[in-house]
Amino acid sequence: MATPLKEGIFWVGAIDWTVRDFHGYVTERGTSYNSYLIVDEEPTLVDTVRSQYFEEMLGRIKSVLEPASIRYIVIDHIENDHASSLGRIMAVARDAAIFTTERGRRGLERFFDLSPFPVRTVKTGDRLRIGKRRLLFIETPMLHWPDSMMTYLEEDRILISQDAFGQHIASSERFDDEYIASHSLAELKDAVLDYYANILMPFGRLILQKMEEISKLNIRIDMIAPDHGIVWRKDPGMVIEMYKGFATDMAEPSVAIIYDTMWHGTERMIPSIVDGLRDEGLDAKVIKLRTDPTSLAIKEFFKRRGTLIGTPTLNNLMFPSIALFMSQLKGLRPKARMVSAFGCYGWGGGGVKGVLEEAKAMGLEVFEPGIEINFRPKGEDLEKCYRFGREFALRLKEYHGRYERGGRRP
Ligand code: FEO
Repeated sequence: MATPLKEGIFWVGAIDWTVRDFHGYVTERGTSYNSYLIVDEEPTLVDTVRSQYFEEMLGRIKSVLEPASIRYIVIDHIENDHASSLGRIMAVARDAAIFTTERGRRGLERFFDLSPFPVRTVKTGDRLRIGKRRLLFIETPMLHWPDSMMTYLEEDRILISQDAFGQHIASSERFDDEYIASHSLAELKDAVLDYYANILMPFGRLILQKMEEISKLNIRIDMIAPDHGIVWRKDPGMVIEMYKGFATDMAEPSVAIIYDTMWHGTERMIPSIVDGLRDEGLDAKVIKLRTDPTSLAIKEFFKRRGTLIGTPTLNNLMFPSIALFMSQLKGLRPKARMVSAFGCYGWGGGGVKGVLEEAKAMGLEVFEPGIEINFRPKGEDLEKCYRFGREFALRLKEYHGRYERGGRRP
């Protein structure tokens, strides 16, 4: 069945309860592909679902109207999870016209033969009357693809925001208030953070600019309906504030310890380092790569002001799982975080140095020289680890304090 958002506006998406690998990003909560149907003089579908879920979407559309009566299909974003059902819905809604951005049109033509259908390209500020309602289109290039846009329902004050403000959550609840009642606010906020860290981290500055641009349009937003997860009907302002915080480099004054280990030498350094952090009043969260997914490590890195990366040395380089983490982190263009490294080596070091060089190349604040121990830490080595933890904590508190005093970038 379709779920009404407001009178005449329905969620007709699909829930993917079992997806755990979303092109490499581990989605422990599953996800949903949200599609919205607006019943007016010209019935309009905004976004579709991943093609495997076409029948689920079609069933929900049929619970409201005959799919052949759809006149307009808006594609806010052409990534496969939202647009790969377009061919099949066009085969059913044969009289429909497609609305998308110019880059959206060019991308869709790589996947579908659009020649039988009218395709109208739209820009920011363009409006489409569908009966008693008007849709306002807002381009959001690079949030997070070049083709991306949002669709605002003027009379109902609903912003269909495609990937922005989404979360990878599979749930029978459709709205924020329902999800908070059956799970918790903390769980929902964690899903927002996880999604932002893994997908939107590189685009923080663009997000701020786009929010500024939207506020100049003088539109009131009563509801934000993203293309993944729950719809924000009770408190859309909360997720907007969370995004502003992320985009202005807010972070917790605490430490993520992200590590891997060959023969448990690097791992044995951790309790003493954590003791040092704790004795300076800082919390730590420990994540072992190859046990926990890289996407969890990315989330914990983004959430906290400081990260310590533990790597054994293998063939004079950092350990492969750590190299993979550093590569993914580099692509996300992190900012305003402090990093150091620790680890064990056998014949010659190099892993710690490699991590610090990569972190410097990313423009992160680096606490040097890190700490590297031969083979296995023993008594006095563990003392050094403890002191390393304390010294890192002291530097991190000082670094974090510069943000707390109001400057965005120290
Ligand atoms: Fe949910 Fe960028 O696709």
